[in-house]
Amino acid sequence: MHHFTSVALAILAGTASAVLQDWQQCGGINYSGDTQCATGSGCVKINDYYSQCQPGAAPAPTTTAIPTTTVPDPTTLATTTAPISTSVPAGSGPGTTLQTGYYWIRAVASPNFHKYMQTSPLYSPGPALLGSYTTAGQFQVVSGQLVQLVSAPGEKPEKFLYATVSETRSINNMSLAVTFTEAKNTYGTFKFGGDDLQWSVSSITRPNPSAWYVCAGQKMYINLGNYMYQTPSGCADQTIHYYNDKTANS
Ligand SMILES: *[C@@H]1O[C@H](CO)[C@@H](O)[C@H](O)[C@H]1NC(C)=O
Ligand SMILES: *[C@@H]1O[C@H](CO)[C@@H](O)[C@H](O)[C@H]1NC(C)=O
Repeated sequence: MHHFTSVALAILAGTASAVLQDWQQCGGINYSGDTQCATGSGCVKINDYYSQCQPGAAPAPTTTAIPTTTVPDPTTLATTTAPISTSVPAGSGPGTTLQTGYYWIRAVASPNFHKYMQTSPLYSPGPALLGSYTTAGQFQVVSGQLVQLVSAPGEKPEKFLYATVSETRSINNMSLAVTFTEAKNTYGTFKFGGDDLQWSVSSITRPNPSAWYVCAGQKMYINLGNYMYQTPSGCADQTIHYYNDKTANS
């Protein structure tokens, strides 16, 4: 009897290490969470900032799987397409030197490697875009809001735009458009998880809170589904990260 009981207790006392589900993050620069994928799944490096559990330890998807040809080059956008937004800038903007307390936000993988979050025209209400480092916006997450600084350095009062998440699904019914507005966001909350920008809302369970799409016109969408899986045509999977060097760079 005694013997049996102590064996059972020893089993119960064994440390339960958290095993990650498929498509969850398992590694990356500054990632400090669990790293063990479920049986039959392997941790696959997507980029320096992001590794993910994939069933069958599938090799990292090749860049040819991403429909790069259908994603317009932001440098040609300005001349070849009509302006995305006709709205008037809310401020003259903080310029190309990072202001105290703010960050650049950028993608770190193909096809948007070192493309930075911004609006077009700059500092105006409109869709969140990824574009050139020369026109990068400056951001901070405050109380769950993703805030863009749009006033000039030293200007008082400071002026801001807020990233607003659409409650209406678009593209593959797994995408939520993100737009900068003068009003605060009322749907879900933003935060930095490590250095990657995340969004969550209590009513939706997301397999990866850091998953974004960058689609036609370089517009950014929250990806409610899996990262790097069933990517809609014309979109690219990205995670986006803060960067705090004094100037943005390519
Ligand atoms: C990792 O975190 C450290 C400490 O917060 C920070 O200094 C560093 O810039 C981060 N690395 C990257 C690649 O963001
Ligand atoms: C989109 O997804 C929502 C939530 O899962 C679902 O209720 C709705 O029926 C879907 N719409 C379409 C057109 O598939």
